[in-house]
Amino acid sequence: MSVRPAPAIDPARGDTPYGGADIDPHPPLRIGIIGVGGISQAHRNGYLAAGAELVAIADSQPQALQARAQAWGVERSYTDFRAMFADGEVDAVSIAAPTAVHAPATLAAADHGVHVLCEKPIALDLEQGRTMIDACRHAGVVFMINHQLRSHGAAELAKRMLERGDLGDITHLRLRQAHDWAGSAAVRMSFSTRASSGGGTLLDNGCHLMDLARYFGDDVEEVYARTATRKFAVELEDTAHVSLRFMNGALGTVEVAWTATGWEEGFWIYGTHGALEYTNRSGVPLMRHVHRASPGTTWGETDVSEHRFAGDAPHARHIRAFLAAIRGERPVVCSGEDGLEAVRLVFAAYESAERNAPIRVADAPTTLLG
Ligand SMILES: NC(=O)c1ccc[n+]([C@@H]2O[C@H](COP(=O)([O-])OP(=O)(O)OC[C@H]3O[C@@H](n4cnc5c(N)ncnc54)[C@H](O)[C@@H]3O)[C@@H](O)[C@H]2O)c1
Repeated sequence: MSVRPAPAIDPARGDTPYGGADIDPHPPLRIGIIGVGGISQAHRNGYLAAGAELVAIADSQPQALQARAQAWGVERSYTDFRAMFADGEVDAVSIAAPTAVHAPATLAAADHGVHVLCEKPIALDLEQGRTMIDACRHAGVVFMINHQLRSHGAAELAKRMLERGDLGDITHLRLRQAHDWAGSAAVRMSFSTRASSGGGTLLDNGCHLMDLARYFGDDVEEVYARTATRKFAVELEDTAHVSLRFMNGALGTVEVAWTATGWEEGFWIYGTHGALEYTNRSGVPLMRHVHRASPGTTWGETDVSEHRFAGDAPHARHIRAFLAAIRGERPVVCSGEDGLEAVRLVFAAYESAERNAPIRVADAPTTLLG
Protein backbone atom coordinates (compact mmCIF):
# COMPACT_ATOMS: atom_id res chain seq x y z
CA MET A 1 0.00 0.00 0.00
CA SER A 2 1.42 3.38 -0.87
CA VAL A 3 1.40 6.42 1.40
CA ARG A 4 -0.13 9.56 -0.05
CA PRO A 5 2.73 11.92 -0.95
CA ALA A 6 3.01 15.18 0.96
CA PRO A 7 2.87 18.39 -1.08
CA ALA A 8 6.13 20.29 -1.36
CA ILE A 9 6.99 22.62 1.51
CA ASP A 10 6.60 26.22 0.39
CA PRO A 11 8.38 28.71 2.68
CA ALA A 12 6.65 31.57 0.85
CA ARG A 13 3.38 30.22 2.23
CA GLY A 14 4.78 30.12 5.78
CA ASP A 15 5.39 26.37 5.80
CA THR A 16 8.28 25.06 7.87
CA PRO A 17 9.83 21.61 7.70
CA TYR A 18 9.18 20.96 11.40
CA GLY A 19 5.55 21.98 11.58
CA GLY A 20 4.23 24.75 13.79
CA ALA A 21 3.30 26.89 10.76
CA ASP A 22 -0.24 28.21 10.48
CA ILE A 23 -0.80 26.27 7.26
CA ASP A 24 -0.27 22.51 7.36
CA PRO A 25 0.76 21.48 3.85
CA HIS A 26 0.30 17.75 4.53
CA PRO A 27 -2.85 15.66 4.10
CA PRO A 28 -3.57 13.93 7.43
CA LEU A 29 -2.02 10.49 7.73
CA ARG A 30 -4.54 7.70 8.36
CA ILE A 31 -3.73 5.98 11.64
CA GLY A 32 -4.63 2.65 13.21
CA ILE A 33 -4.05 1.65 16.84
CA ILE A 34 -3.55 -2.01 17.78
CA GLY A 35 -4.39 -2.63 21.44
CA VAL A 36 -6.74 -0.11 23.00
CA GLY A 37 -5.89 -0.54 26.69
CA GLY A 38 -4.18 1.83 29.12
CA ILE A 39 -1.46 3.43 27.01
CA SER A 40 -3.50 3.69 23.81
CA GLN A 41 -5.18 6.86 25.08
CA ALA A 42 -1.85 8.69 25.00
CA HIS A 43 -1.34 7.55 21.39
CA ARG A 44 -4.80 8.68 20.36
CA ASN A 45 -4.33 12.06 22.05
CA GLY A 46 -0.96 12.50 20.35
CA TYR A 47 -2.31 11.77 16.88
CA LEU A 48 -5.25 14.11 17.33
CA ALA A 49 -2.97 16.88 18.60
CA ALA A 50 -0.73 16.37 15.56
CA GLY A 51 -3.64 16.57 13.12
CA ALA A 52 -3.55 12.92 12.03
CA GLU A 53 -6.77 10.95 11.51
CA LEU A 54 -7.45 7.94 13.72
CA VAL A 55 -9.39 5.77 11.26
CA ALA A 56 -9.14 2.23 12.69
CA ILE A 57 -8.55 0.33 15.92
CA ALA A 58 -7.90 -3.34 16.68
CA ASP A 59 -8.14 -5.24 19.94
CA SER A 60 -8.65 -8.94 20.64
CA GLN A 61 -11.18 -8.11 23.39
CA PRO A 62 -14.49 -7.25 21.66
CA GLN A 63 -15.88 -5.34 24.65
CA ALA A 64 -12.84 -3.11 25.06
CA LEU A 65 -12.80 -2.58 21.31
CA GLN A 66 -16.44 -1.56 21.15
CA ALA A 67 -16.13 0.79 24.11
CA ARG A 68 -13.16 2.58 22.56
CA ALA A 69 -14.75 2.69 19.08
CA GLN A 70 -17.77 4.38 20.58
CA ALA A 71 -15.88 6.76 22.87
CA TRP A 72 -13.42 7.75 20.16
CA GLY A 73 -15.90 7.80 17.27
CA VAL A 74 -13.84 5.36 15.18
CA GLU A 75 -15.84 3.52 12.51
CA ARG A 76 -13.42 0.74 11.60
CA SER A 77 -12.76 -1.70 14.44
CA TYR A 78 -11.27 -5.17 14.25
CA THR A 79 -10.75 -8.04 16.66
CA ASP A 80 -7.89 -9.25 14.43
CA PHE A 81 -5.29 -6.67 13.39
CA ARG A 82 -4.61 -8.67 10.23
CA ALA A 83 -8.08 -7.78 8.95
CA MET A 84 -7.30 -4.10 9.56
CA PHE A 85 -4.21 -4.31 7.37
CA ALA A 86 -6.06 -6.32 4.73
CA ASP A 87 -8.57 -3.47 4.34
CA GLY A 88 -5.69 -1.16 3.33
CA GLU A 89 -7.07 1.98 4.98
CA VAL A 90 -4.17 2.88 7.29
CA ASP A 91 -0.85 4.57 6.49
CA ALA A 92 0.67 4.07 9.95
CA VAL A 93 -0.07 2.19 13.17
CA SER A 94 0.72 2.41 16.83
CA ILE A 95 1.23 -1.02 18.34
CA ALA A 96 0.03 -0.65 21.93
CA ALA A 97 -0.86 -4.28 22.62
CA PRO A 98 1.07 -6.45 25.12
CA THR A 99 4.72 -7.01 24.28
CA ALA A 100 4.21 -10.53 22.91
CA VAL A 101 2.04 -8.99 20.16
CA HIS A 102 4.66 -6.42 19.06
CA ALA A 103 6.47 -8.79 16.69
CA PRO A 104 3.50 -10.33 14.81
CA ALA A 105 1.80 -6.92 14.50
CA THR A 106 4.99 -5.23 13.25
CA LEU A 107 5.61 -7.98 10.69
CA ALA A 108 2.02 -7.71 9.44
CA ALA A 109 2.33 -3.90 9.17
CA ALA A 110 5.59 -4.17 7.23
CA ASP A 111 3.99 -6.73 4.94
CA HIS A 112 1.35 -4.13 4.03
CA GLY A 113 3.72 -1.15 3.71
CA VAL A 114 2.41 0.47 6.91
CA HIS A 115 4.69 2.60 9.15
CA VAL A 116 5.05 1.44 12.77
CA LEU A 117 5.32 3.17 16.13
CA CYS A 118 5.87 0.20 18.43
CA GLU A 119 5.46 0.33 22.18
CA LYS A 120 8.35 -0.62 24.40
CA PRO A 121 9.90 -3.05 25.12
CA ILE A 122 10.39 -3.84 21.45
CA ALA A 123 10.35 -7.61 22.14
CA LEU A 124 11.26 -10.24 24.70
CA ASP A 125 13.77 -11.85 22.38
CA LEU A 126 16.63 -10.11 20.57
CA GLU A 127 16.36 -12.23 17.43
CA GLN A 128 12.66 -11.44 17.22
CA GLY A 129 13.44 -7.72 17.56
CA ARG A 130 16.03 -8.01 14.79
CA THR A 131 13.44 -9.67 12.52
CA MET A 132 11.06 -6.75 13.14
CA ILE A 133 13.76 -4.21 12.26
CA ASP A 134 14.78 -6.09 9.12
CA ALA A 135 11.18 -6.51 7.94
CA CYS A 136 10.49 -2.76 8.25
CA ARG A 137 13.76 -1.85 6.57
CA HIS A 138 13.03 -4.27 3.72
CA ALA A 139 9.52 -2.81 3.33
CA GLY A 140 10.85 0.77 3.41
CA VAL A 141 8.56 1.80 6.27
CA VAL A 142 9.44 3.90 9.31
CA PHE A 143 9.93 1.82 12.45
CA MET A 144 10.13 3.80 15.68
CA ILE A 145 10.05 2.63 19.28
CA ASN A 146 7.95 4.46 21.83
CA HIS A 147 10.69 5.40 24.27
CA GLN A 148 8.90 8.72 24.52
CA LEU A 149 11.21 10.14 27.18
CA ARG A 150 13.65 10.98 24.38
CA SER A 151 11.04 13.49 23.18
CA HIS A 152 10.55 15.12 26.58
CA GLY A 153 11.48 18.80 26.35
CA ALA A 154 14.00 18.31 29.17
CA ALA A 155 15.66 15.35 27.45
CA GLU A 156 15.80 17.19 24.12
CA LEU A 157 17.41 20.22 25.75
CA ALA A 158 19.80 18.05 27.77
CA LYS A 159 20.85 16.25 24.61
CA ARG A 160 21.54 19.57 22.82
CA MET A 161 23.55 20.84 25.79
CA LEU A 162 25.57 17.62 25.93
CA GLU A 163 26.28 17.80 22.21
CA ARG A 164 27.39 21.43 22.59
CA GLY A 165 29.77 20.35 25.32
CA ASP A 166 28.09 22.52 27.99
CA LEU A 167 28.74 19.90 30.67
CA GLY A 168 32.19 18.81 29.50
CA ASP A 169 32.66 15.03 29.66
CA ILE A 170 30.04 13.01 31.51
CA THR A 171 31.46 11.50 34.68
CA HIS A 172 28.29 9.81 35.95
CA LEU A 173 24.55 9.90 35.62
CA ARG A 174 21.52 8.75 37.54
CA LEU A 175 18.16 7.85 36.01
CA ARG A 176 14.98 7.21 37.94
CA GLN A 177 11.41 6.17 37.05
CA ALA A 178 9.23 4.98 39.88
CA HIS A 179 5.55 4.86 40.76
CA ASP A 180 3.02 3.01 42.89
CA TRP A 181 0.37 2.02 40.32
CA ALA A 182 -1.53 5.16 41.30
CA GLY A 183 -1.89 3.95 44.87
CA SER A 184 -3.52 0.69 43.81
CA ALA A 185 -3.31 -2.38 46.04
CA ALA A 186 -2.40 -4.54 43.05
CA VAL A 187 -0.23 -4.44 39.95
CA ARG A 188 -2.23 -4.06 36.72
CA MET A 189 -3.19 -7.56 35.52
CA SER A 190 -1.20 -7.62 32.27
CA PHE A 191 1.98 -6.57 34.14
CA SER A 192 1.68 -8.98 37.04
CA THR A 193 2.93 -12.30 35.67
CA ARG A 194 6.04 -13.34 33.82
CA ALA A 195 3.87 -15.01 31.18
CA SER A 196 2.00 -11.80 30.35
CA SER A 197 4.75 -9.19 30.64
CA GLY A 198 8.12 -10.99 30.57
CA GLY A 199 9.48 -8.98 33.52
CA GLY A 200 8.68 -6.57 36.34
CA THR A 201 9.65 -2.95 36.88
CA LEU A 202 13.19 -3.58 35.60
CA LEU A 203 11.79 -4.40 32.18
CA ASP A 204 8.75 -2.13 32.26
CA ASN A 205 10.35 1.09 33.52
CA GLY A 206 13.97 0.02 33.16
CA CYS A 207 13.94 -0.29 29.37
CA HIS A 208 13.01 3.43 29.14
CA LEU A 209 15.94 4.35 31.37
CA MET A 210 18.40 2.03 29.64
CA ASP A 211 17.43 3.81 26.44
CA LEU A 212 18.00 7.24 28.05
CA ALA A 213 21.33 6.05 29.43
CA ARG A 214 22.52 5.30 25.89
CA TYR A 215 20.92 8.50 24.54
CA PHE A 216 22.73 10.73 27.02
CA GLY A 217 25.83 8.67 27.66
CA ASP A 218 27.44 6.01 25.56
CA ASP A 219 27.05 2.32 24.87
CA VAL A 220 27.20 0.37 28.10
CA GLU A 221 29.95 -2.16 28.71
CA GLU A 222 28.90 -3.76 32.00
CA VAL A 223 25.96 -3.84 34.41
CA TYR A 224 25.53 -4.92 38.01
CA ALA A 225 21.93 -5.24 39.21
CA ARG A 226 19.93 -6.02 42.33
CA THR A 227 16.20 -6.74 42.26
CA ALA A 228 13.67 -7.19 45.04
CA THR A 229 9.96 -7.86 45.51
CA ARG A 230 8.99 -5.70 48.47
CA LYS A 231 5.35 -4.75 48.25
CA PHE A 232 3.17 -6.56 45.74
CA ALA A 233 2.17 -10.23 45.63
CA VAL A 234 3.69 -10.80 42.19
CA GLU A 235 6.21 -13.31 40.88
CA LEU A 236 8.26 -10.43 39.45
CA GLU A 237 10.50 -7.74 40.93
CA ASP A 238 8.79 -4.53 42.01
CA THR A 239 12.03 -2.71 42.90
CA ALA A 240 15.43 -2.70 41.16
CA HIS A 241 18.73 -0.83 41.04
CA VAL A 242 21.33 -1.23 38.31
CA SER A 243 24.88 0.10 38.22
CA LEU A 244 26.23 0.79 34.71
CA ARG A 245 29.74 1.19 33.38
CA PHE A 246 29.77 2.92 30.00
CA MET A 247 32.28 2.09 27.24
CA ASN A 248 33.86 5.52 27.77
CA GLY A 249 34.46 4.79 31.46
CA ALA A 250 31.64 6.93 32.92
CA LEU A 251 29.32 5.40 35.52
CA GLY A 252 25.55 5.31 35.76
CA THR A 253 22.76 4.27 38.09
CA VAL A 254 19.27 3.19 37.07
CA GLU A 255 16.57 3.13 39.77
CA VAL A 256 13.13 1.72 39.03
CA ALA A 257 10.27 0.82 41.31
CA TRP A 258 6.58 0.10 41.56
CA THR A 259 7.09 0.75 45.27
CA ALA A 260 7.49 4.54 45.23
CA THR A 261 4.73 6.94 46.26
CA GLY A 262 3.24 8.88 43.40
CA TRP A 263 4.96 9.20 40.03
CA GLU A 264 8.63 10.10 39.96
CA GLU A 265 10.71 10.61 36.88
CA GLY A 266 14.10 12.22 36.72
CA PHE A 267 17.62 12.31 35.40
CA TRP A 268 20.77 13.74 36.89
CA ILE A 269 23.74 14.11 34.54
CA TYR A 270 27.11 15.13 35.95
CA GLY A 271 29.96 16.34 33.75
CA THR A 272 33.40 17.78 34.25
CA HIS A 273 31.98 21.33 33.74
CA GLY A 274 28.50 21.21 35.21
CA ALA A 275 25.41 19.19 35.97
CA LEU A 276 21.83 18.86 34.78
CA GLU A 277 19.22 17.93 37.37
CA TYR A 278 15.75 17.13 36.08
CA THR A 279 12.78 15.90 38.09
CA ASN A 280 9.01 16.05 37.82
CA ARG A 281 8.68 15.54 41.59
CA SER A 282 7.35 18.96 42.50
CA GLY A 283 4.56 18.60 39.92
CA VAL A 284 6.27 21.14 37.66
CA PRO A 285 8.81 19.55 35.31
CA LEU A 286 11.96 21.49 36.09
CA MET A 287 15.55 21.11 34.90
CA ARG A 288 18.37 22.93 36.66
CA HIS A 289 21.69 23.53 34.96
CA VAL A 290 24.17 23.82 37.80
CA HIS A 291 27.49 25.37 36.81
CA ARG A 292 30.34 27.56 37.98
CA ALA A 293 30.56 30.47 35.56
CA SER A 294 30.90 33.13 38.28
CA PRO A 295 34.07 33.62 40.30
CA GLY A 296 33.72 33.41 44.05
CA THR A 297 31.09 30.67 44.29
CA THR A 298 31.32 28.52 47.39
CA TRP A 299 31.07 24.77 48.10
CA GLY A 300 27.29 24.93 48.21
CA GLU A 301 26.57 28.04 46.19
CA THR A 302 26.84 27.73 42.40
CA ASP A 303 25.35 29.36 39.34
CA VAL A 304 22.01 27.83 38.42
CA SER A 305 19.90 28.23 35.28
CA GLU A 306 16.38 26.85 35.49
CA HIS A 307 14.36 25.46 32.58
CA ARG A 308 10.62 24.77 32.69
CA PHE A 309 8.76 22.89 30.00
CA ALA A 310 5.33 23.71 28.64
CA GLY A 311 3.21 22.35 25.83
CA ASP A 312 2.65 18.81 24.67
CA ALA A 313 3.47 15.83 26.87
CA PRO A 314 6.34 13.53 25.78
CA HIS A 315 3.98 11.01 24.14
CA ALA A 316 2.44 13.72 21.95
CA ARG A 317 5.87 15.10 21.06
CA HIS A 318 7.11 11.60 20.20
CA ILE A 319 4.11 11.04 17.95
CA ARG A 320 4.74 14.36 16.17
CA ALA A 321 8.31 13.16 15.62
CA PHE A 322 7.02 9.83 14.26
CA LEU A 323 4.75 11.61 11.77
CA ALA A 324 7.58 13.95 10.77
CA ALA A 325 9.85 10.94 10.17
CA ILE A 326 7.18 9.39 7.92
CA ARG A 327 7.06 12.64 5.94
CA GLY A 328 10.84 12.51 5.63
CA GLU A 329 11.31 15.74 7.58
CA ARG A 330 13.59 14.38 10.28
CA PRO A 331 15.37 11.17 11.25
CA VAL A 332 13.65 8.63 13.47
CA VAL A 333 14.13 9.69 17.11
CA CYS A 334 14.32 6.19 18.52
CA SER A 335 15.06 3.40 16.07
CA GLY A 336 14.40 -0.32 16.28
CA GLU A 337 18.10 -0.78 17.02
CA ASP A 338 17.79 1.65 19.95
CA GLY A 339 14.83 -0.35 21.26
CA LEU A 340 16.81 -3.56 20.89
CA GLU A 341 19.86 -2.21 22.74
CA ALA A 342 17.68 -1.01 25.62
CA VAL A 343 16.26 -4.50 25.97
CA ARG A 344 19.71 -6.07 25.72
CA LEU A 345 20.78 -3.98 28.76
CA VAL A 346 17.72 -5.13 30.69
CA PHE A 347 18.48 -8.78 29.85
CA ALA A 348 22.05 -8.27 31.07
CA ALA A 349 20.71 -6.71 34.29
CA TYR A 350 18.41 -9.68 34.97
CA GLU A 351 21.32 -12.05 34.47
CA SER A 352 23.44 -9.95 36.82
CA ALA A 353 20.76 -9.94 39.53
CA GLU A 354 20.33 -13.68 39.14
CA ARG A 355 24.05 -14.38 39.47
CA ASN A 356 24.77 -11.52 41.88
CA ALA A 357 27.72 -10.57 39.71
CA PRO A 358 28.64 -7.93 37.15
CA ILE A 359 27.75 -8.95 33.60
CA ARG A 360 29.37 -7.72 30.41
CA VAL A 361 26.63 -6.59 28.06
CA ALA A 362 28.25 -8.59 25.26
CA ASP A 363 27.61 -11.73 27.34
CA ALA A 364 23.93 -10.93 28.04
CA PRO A 365 21.35 -13.62 27.39
CA THR A 366 19.41 -13.02 24.19
CA THR A 367 15.92 -13.85 25.34
CA LEU A 368 13.45 -13.68 28.21
CA LEU A 369 11.22 -16.23 26.48
CA GLY A 370 11.05 -19.82 27.68
N1 LIG B 1 5.62 4.05 26.64
C1 LIG B 1 5.15 3.92 27.86
O1 LIG B 1 5.44 4.70 28.77
C2 LIG B 1 4.22 2.77 28.17
C3 LIG B 1 3.34 2.84 29.26
C4 LIG B 1 2.48 1.77 29.49
C5 LIG B 1 2.53 0.64 28.68
N2 LIG B 1 3.43 0.58 27.65
C6 LIG B 1 3.51 -0.62 26.77
O2 LIG B 1 2.33 -0.66 25.96
C7 LIG B 1 1.91 -2.01 25.78
C8 LIG B 1 0.46 -2.13 26.29
O3 LIG B 1 0.41 -1.75 27.64
P1 LIG B 1 -0.95 -1.26 28.34
O4 LIG B 1 -0.58 -0.74 29.67
O5 LIG B 1 -1.75 -0.41 27.42
O6 LIG B 1 -1.66 -2.69 28.53
P2 LIG B 1 -3.20 -2.99 28.71
O7 LIG B 1 -3.27 -4.37 29.22
O8 LIG B 1 -3.89 -1.88 29.42
O9 LIG B 1 -3.79 -2.96 27.19
C9 LIG B 1 -3.39 -3.87 26.20
C10 LIG B 1 -4.54 -4.04 25.21
O10 LIG B 1 -4.10 -4.89 24.15
C11 LIG B 1 -5.15 -5.81 23.84
N3 LIG B 1 -4.62 -7.00 23.17
C12 LIG B 1 -4.12 -8.13 23.72
N4 LIG B 1 -3.77 -9.00 22.74
C13 LIG B 1 -4.04 -8.38 21.56
C14 LIG B 1 -3.91 -8.75 20.19
N5 LIG B 1 -3.39 -9.94 19.84
N6 LIG B 1 -4.31 -7.88 19.24
C15 LIG B 1 -4.83 -6.68 19.58
N7 LIG B 1 -4.99 -6.27 20.86
C16 LIG B 1 -4.59 -7.11 21.83
C17 LIG B 1 -5.79 -6.10 25.19
O11 LIG B 1 -7.10 -6.64 25.02
C18 LIG B 1 -5.78 -4.72 25.84
O12 LIG B 1 -6.95 -4.00 25.53
C19 LIG B 1 2.92 -2.88 26.53
O13 LIG B 1 3.91 -3.33 25.62
C20 LIG B 1 3.55 -1.93 27.54
O14 LIG B 1 4.88 -2.27 27.90
C21 LIG B 1 4.25 1.63 27.39
